[in-house]
Amino acid sequence: MDEFIKVAKKSEIAEGQMKEYRISGKTVAIANIAGEFLAFDGICTHAHCALAGGYLDGYTLTCYCHGAQFDIKSGSVLAPPAPEPVSVYEVKLDDSDILLKI
Ligand code: FES
Repeated sequence: MDEFIKVAKKSEIAEGQMKEYRISGKTVAIANIAGEFLAFDGICTHAHCALAGGYLDGYTLTCYCHGAQFDIKSGSVLAPPAPEPVSVYEVKLDDSDILLKI
């Protein structure tokens, strides 16, 4: 889809935190990294654990299930066992809202 969809309010996601949302049949996680919002697939490509339940260190997300690491800016895998990167989504901020292009 080519349009941005309003998904969340900035105030819902504290700095250093992630939250999971269901949009257009997809599970998407949004992270707040020092006021920068990043959106990516919310399901780990290894064994389908919820990435919003993992741990953030800057842009590095560690899956809580088996320790795979992703760069949430690019979606790329930084550490196994995740076999594939996650998709990342374009984010637009509008006043207090977070919009995504899904
Ligand atoms: S499900 Fe994420 S590392 Fe296994």
